[in-house]
Amino acid sequence: MGRIAPLFVGPSIAIRWCMYKTKNSISEKVRTQMVDLLQGHLANSLDMASQAKQAHWNVKGPDFIALHELFDKVYEDTASYVDTIAERIVQLGGIAEGTLKAAAKRSQLPEYPPNLSAGHSHVNALATTLANYGEYVRDGIGKSEELGDKATADIFTEVSRGIDKYLWFVEAHLQGER
Ligand SMILES: [Fe+2]
Repeated sequence: MGRIAPLFVGPSIAIRWCMYKTKNSISEKVRTQMVDLLQGHLANSLDMASQAKQAHWNVKGPDFIALHELFDKVYEDTASYVDTIAERIVQLGGIAEGTLKAAAKRSQLPEYPPNLSAGHSHVNALATTLANYGEYVRDGIGKSEELGDKATADIFTEVSRGIDKYLWFVEAHLQGER
């Protein structure tokens, strides 16, 4: 989709000042770059989770119960990615910036449209967010591998697999007729 913005390059001064010492043998330089990368993904993940809840609460129409439950599953799995990514930041010596205000400033995901109600409009909006989120996660796999942090690349790979599955589950509601 070509929307990857070069936001996750070079750690901010705030991150450099907040790095803890650790006996982890990954160099401080790499840990600092990884923490900056992960902070961006933590913000995206918190935004993704809140958008899934927005859809869960507000969807209406004949597919209500199926979509209401599916959107909650998207939320639950995304919330577990939030936890894994935040804890990886701390493992690498960083401080996880996991408040909603911090996430809102940093998230790269599109804004969820207000005032949606019909099932298909929520399906379309959440599929757009899932696709965007998934693209950034794939970018995270590549950047983690470039920096030699295979454990974080593995986390992003797991997230990518899960999000591709949910994009399928959500988009399938729009693919009944070609
Ligand atoms: Fe609920």
